[in-house]
Order: sequence, then structure tokens, then C-alpha cells
Amino acid sequence: MEHQTLLSAELTEAQFNAISSLVKSLAGINLTETKKELVRARLTKRLRKLGLATFDDYVEYLQNDTTGSELVAMLDVLSTNTTYFFREAKHFEWLRQDVLPRLTARRRVRIWSAGCSSGEEPYSIAIVLLEAIPDLADWDAAILATDLSTEVLARARKAIYPASRLREVPPMLLGRHFTLVATKPERTYRVNDPVRRLVHFARLNLMGQWPMKGPFDVIFCRNVMIYFDRPTRQDLIARFHSILAPGGTLFIGHSESLTGISHSFRYVLPTVYRKPATGQEAAQ
Ligand SMILES: C[S@@+](CC[C@H](N)C(=O)[O-])C[C@H]1O[C@@H](n2cnc3c(N)ncnc32)[C@H](O)[C@@H]1O
Repeated sequence: MEHQTLLSAELTEAQFNAISSLVKSLAGINLTETKKELVRARLTKRLRKLGLATFDDYVEYLQNDTTGSELVAMLDVLSTNTTYFFREAKHFEWLRQDVLPRLTARRRVRIWSAGCSSGEEPYSIAIVLLEAIPDLADWDAAILATDLSTEVLARARKAIYPASRLREVPPMLLGRHFTLVATKPERTYRVNDPVRRLVHFARLNLMGQWPMKGPFDVIFCRNVMIYFDRPTRQDLIARFHSILAPGGTLFIGHSESLTGISHSFRYVLPTVYRKPATGQEAAQ
């Protein structure tokens, strides 16, 4: 039942507080007062879809939804998923130049894209692997890509993107790793199978239990922690440290830093951190 008549509903302070504390406890996402209008606008779509007239009805619906599917749908519309291929190109360059050569001897690499959105980040990583490692077929290489939002993961698995998401892809790589599938209404590309085969997508709430054991050689968690408050970031950084292999690298987003967070990483470059390889290095 879809009610197109509901154009907007009022979101009171109490309703906003109820919704934001739910989102904070479930996903760590901090919806400050400045986000109130955005929350109202985005959730009005859910009210419309469910045929509900007010946010009180919506909060009640959420509380009675034993399937948990509305919580997932709510987090889908509230999370910000902006991303594109080769975003923050220097990270991919560092991966190619510094990180991968260290792993050549054992021919094994495990990378985690945490908060991967619609897949542009993990597929960019896969392209770097294919380009940088000529004998990749002889390696044990895998990229795990996880996100909270089921909607972005569905798009990631389809691996079809408009040209606007590919604007940072060098033309040579575009020709090698993408296939043009449509030209109208805009140029649209599909990621080629060798790239897709390297990436495994799964839904994972970073605030919950992590089923994987690791260790990972590299973690990309970029432009995700900006939505979390300091204690949540602190906790997450400690968990990333534990699940990284000694010498492993953590990439964070351009507007993020570990300033103000106590941690045992070594600073490498702005937004690039490394777990010390040995106890001795950690103590230095
Ligand atoms: C802005 S996108 C970043 C995408 C990509 N990492 C990049 O930098 O381009 C942020 C992503 O974090 C995800 N996210 C937010 N909170 C999360 C949580 N608690 N657990 C897992 N993913 C989360 C959102 O669903 C969204 O897809």
C-alpha cells in the first residue's frame, strides 16, 4: 500500500530523540540536531511507503516490527552512501607501491573494505591487485567488502555504474576492467568478471559481532567513522588493530584522523596507519 498523498509530516523533538537514540544504539551513527531536517525528509519516504500518517505511528511500527526489516530499511535511508571509483587516489597508489610488495614472498593477501557502500572502493582495490601483481592467479587473494545497508550491497553485487562514478578511473583501466553496457540515458559500465571474482560482499554492522577471524593485511574504513562519536570510533579503532596482521595497514577517510583517540598504530601518512610488525617496533 503506497500513499502518495503524504507530502510531509512533522517531526517533533521527542520523536527525533526516539529515532536518533535507536539509530545510535543500533549502528553507532550520531544524528545530531543539525540532521533533523534530513532525517524528517528521508524518513517521510518510509512513512509514505508504509501508509503511516505521523512519526508517532512510525516509532510504534518500529517497536512492534519483530522481523527487524523496518530497522534495516530505516538505516538504509538514513545512511550516507556517497562514493566513487579510486576516491582518494593516493591510498591506491600506496597500496600498490608500499603494501603489496611486502606481501610478495608469501603470495597471500587479505583486504577488508569496511563500509564499502555500493562497491566502488573494493572494486578499485581489486583493480589495483590485478594491475600490480602479474601472477595474481598464483596468489591466495581475497577482498571482503561489508556494509550495513542492504540496498547498497545489492547495487554492489550488480556491479553496474554510471560514468559519473568512474570519473577518476584512468582511461587505460576503464578499457581493461569495464564493459560499456549502455549509452542512454547515460554511459553505463559493468565491472569485468576477473575484478568481480576477487570481491566477496556481506552485510555487517560494524557495531555488532564480527564473524570473520582475520587477520587482514589491509583495512579500508574510509568516510564511515565521521558519523560516529568519539567513544564509538575509539572502540572501532581498537577492534581494527586486533584484527589486522602485524605490519597491517589501515586507511581512513580524508576528513578523518586518529587525533584524540588512544591507539597503538604507527602514523605513516595523513589518513594511513600501520600496526607495528613486532613487539619491539611497538615499544619504540
Ligand atoms: C560515505 S559511505 C563510504 C563508502 C566508501 N568507504 C568510500 O569512502 O567511498 C559510508 C558507508 O558506511 C556505511 N555504514 C554506516 N554505519 C555503518 C555501520 N554501523 N556498519 C557498517 N557500515 C556502516 C553506510 O551504509 C555507507 O555505505
